[in-house]
Amino acid sequence: MITLGIETSCDETSVAVLEGKHGIRSNVVSSSLFRHQPFGGVVPEIACRHSLEQIDFVLEQALKQANAKIQDVDLIAVTQGPGLIGSLFVGVCFAKALSFHLKKPLVGVNHLEAHLTANFIGHEAPERYLGLLVSGGHTSISYHEGAQMKIIGETVDDACGEAYDKVAKILGLGFPGGPIIDKLAAQGNEKAYKFTRPKQENSYDFSFSGVKTAVLYLTRRQKSMTDEFKRDVAASFQRAAVSWLVEKSIAAAEDMRVSDIVVGGGVSANSRLRKDLQEAAGREGIRTWFPPLALTGDNAAMIARQGLDLYEKGVRDTIRLNADPNLRVKGRKAS
Ligand code: KG4
Ligand code: ZN
Repeated sequence: MITLGIETSCDETSVAVLEGKHGIRSNVVSSSLFRHQPFGGVVPEIACRHSLEQIDFVLEQALKQANAKIQDVDLIAVTQGPGLIGSLFVGVCFAKALSFHLKKPLVGVNHLEAHLTANFIGHEAPERYLGLLVSGGHTSISYHEGAQMKIIGETVDDACGEAYDKVAKILGLGFPGGPIIDKLAAQGNEKAYKFTRPKQENSYDFSFSGVKTAVLYLTRRQKSMTDEFKRDVAASFQRAAVSWLVEKSIAAAEDMRVSDIVVGGGVSANSRLRKDLQEAAGREGIRTWFPPLALTGDNAAMIARQGLDLYEKGVRDTIRLNADPNLRVKGRKAS
């Protein structure tokens, strides 16, 4: 079974060829990041135009690297949402046209669910697990059992990746901030500044806007931002953000009596999160899953993998499939 994955939810345009559930024959990603960097954030119109320009070429490269022909494809999986409407449209329209022309089945995929599924390329998924999704636009804790899932906590304001990006912007470090802060934090004093842990009504919800504001006030009080100041703020911020993610996901895993925590999304590349969660979970006998670094960011291999899962459960989409910028994960938030 060959699945063609197509991902255009934000600033990346990606096409992958997946053989069965576990064989990535190609996973080509064309990033428009360099076009957004001068603006300090993703400009939706630029992201959308980039996808439109690149998608044909990226498909061609993906097929070439996979040593496959378009006729070899058995299933087309595409990101339906959430994401930027213009970018999503490019992928969904492209996938629908391919499906119509080739007479091959089409499945629309939720980008966030696919971030977690990235862990299951090369490994079978555990029957029950806790999902920790940490991306640029979303932060949530979900409980998964077989085909069922429900959100048990999420961010009430900024996503974790968004907080990394905003803190980096305040410190004048560039975009995207996550990888820059991750690197800088290793050289700073993580105890230099203490950020108050926000109190949430639902103990598995997150809030990251307070720490961002605290960093803003901290920098305003600073006469000049020295390199040492930036390193110390980066280290202190990272320590706080990661400790909240670790503590909440371990408490939730214990509450739900699961022995696996599956992490996905751009922030799952974070070195501190990988180390601290693995250590803390290990002490409780909980196994942690992180995708390989190449699959932490937006990519089409995870879309193909998630699409194949849905297809095997009988999900089919038609030419009526529409992009949905606010697509929710199928589970509902527990009350
Ligand atoms: O999942 P993703 O590629 O895109 C979305 O679906 O949002 O996540 C992008 C986010 C950005 O906010 C970026 O700063 C963050 O992931 N990120 C990181 C790291 N690498 C990427 N955050 C912390 N540490 C990292 N090493
Ligand atoms: Zn993503």
